[in-house]
Amino acid sequence: GSIGKDGYRHYMDKELHEHPLVIGQTLRRMIDPATRRVVMPPLPFDLAAIPRATITACGSAFYAGLLGRHWLESEARLPVDVDVASELRYRDAPLSAGGLALLISQSGETADTLAALRALRAGGQHVLSVLNVPESSMARDSDMVLETVAGPEICVASTKAFTAQLSVLACLAIATGRARGTLSAEREQVLVQALLDLPGKAAELFDLRADIQHVAAIVADARDVLYLGRGAYFPVALEGALKLKEISYIHAEAYAAGEMKHGPIALIDRSVPVVAIAPSGRLFGKTASNLQEARARGGRLIAFTDAEGAAGLRGIAEALVVLPEADPFTAPILHSIAVQMLAYEVALLKGTDVDQPRNLAKSVTVE
Ligand code: G6P
Repeated sequence: GSIGKDGYRHYMDKELHEHPLVIGQTLRRMIDPATRRVVMPPLPFDLAAIPRATITACGSAFYAGLLGRHWLESEARLPVDVDVASELRYRDAPLSAGGLALLISQSGETADTLAALRALRAGGQHVLSVLNVPESSMARDSDMVLETVAGPEICVASTKAFTAQLSVLACLAIATGRARGTLSAEREQVLVQALLDLPGKAAELFDLRADIQHVAAIVADARDVLYLGRGAYFPVALEGALKLKEISYIHAEAYAAGEMKHGPIALIDRSVPVVAIAPSGRLFGKTASNLQEARARGGRLIAFTDAEGAAGLRGIAEALVVLPEADPFTAPILHSIAVQMLAYEVALLKGTDVDQPRNLAKSVTVE
């Protein structure tokens, strides 16, 4: 049947509010509540024997893949390549025999991702797909599907499907780490607990609406916006910039914070707000010094951070959005939701057609 907006003004707002539910539902498929361990469905290949993984996708799903790489590398020590499907399918990349092809797609129908899947299969890879539509073309051509339990996503710009993809990829990294012997049982318990805490913390993000609206008012006046992040927060910056472009039509660019001095710093002045994704953690000091450089050139800084990070950024940032404390493993998922919320608030101020942006399609089934 048709899906209503449940009293929300846009599907996007409704779908943003579904994040806690969707993350919880998706995790319930992959975490055994009794043992609190990740359980994978029986795979037709051995995760321990995979020499390398190739992740490919389009749009937001590609950014989920970048975070997936981060987790697979750090927790499972698995070498991973990530590329957009329209590049990978024509790149003639050498593949390792018996490697893992990891495809990520909400619809399971995106033409480039499907073509890449077929090329990877022809190249002798085991094909594992992370899909929101289990009866899709990609599902039919995969050796195994891990389902994101996001339900139908109506807004063209992806929101809840993205965090569901991240939830699955985090669990896959845990399972792979266990299979490869790189993840201790104690570490698995910590990571699983961090995942199980996510729905509650995601629900708390809606208390930040006033702070996000304050930031939105700064961003809505700009013609160009720069998003910065490092490590696991670089994909979050990419997601934030894409969402802003898609639904508010403001030009936004995401940069790995350490690359700022190799180009984008030339653009910085009062008219280009800099949105930093900079919670506390291993790379905080590095990001903070990049932000200091932007500030010194007259940039207006906005930071998404946590309480500890806020203490270090108060002197440099004009506006702060302080997210709940979270384990560094899962904090990028919370920050992804926050930057999506920002894009939504900017689009409201701009009065754009949030759910149906011009020139964009929900499912791109042509090359
Ligand atoms: C379109 C949508 C995006 C989505 C991308 C990939 O561009 O507007 O939101 O991320 O396709 O779609 P998929 O269904 O493969 O995840």
